[in-house]
Amino acid sequence: AGKRTFTMIKPDAVEAGNIGGILNMITEGGFRIVSLKLTQLTVADAQKFYAVHAERPFYGELVEFMSRGPIVAAILEKDNAVEDFRTLIGATNPADAAEGTIRKKYAKSIGENAVHGSDSDENAEIEAAFHFAGREQF
Ligand code: CMP
Repeated sequence: AGKRTFTMIKPDAVEAGNIGGILNMITEGGFRIVSLKLTQLTVADAQKFYAVHAERPFYGELVEFMSRGPIVAAILEKDNAVEDFRTLIGATNPADAAEGTIRKKYAKSIGENAVHGSDSDENAEIEAAFHFAGREQF
């Protein structure tokens, strides 16, 4: 399994003042922060990032949401990072998220669900490179 994953603290969680709480859950969960920044997706960035969902009925709403305010982008390192991080964040819909997960604690809805986690090692690499230059990866 790969050692790195990519995450975003989404606009809803930044707006709600939950950056610190979420980063604390991430580090308490055994992940090392390789890269970290506050940034904002343009509409074009969000369209590109979520192109895999372009045919879904929620695509427009998703693009608008993800570009409406700042996000925190981060690369995280841990053994089995992609799978273990998806376990830590919990189900897409917070109503289905397990106790102790980031989405259980911080997500508002299936759309505004506080945090992103890459779904494969390959996508983790692509998503990390989208946000961070080599010299920003520690
Ligand atoms: P994530 O799984 O990180 O990436 C795809 C995102 O699309 C998902 O988080 C939600 O933010 C959003 N999403 C998924 N399903 C729905 C839905 N039914 N309605 C609105 N947004 C959704």
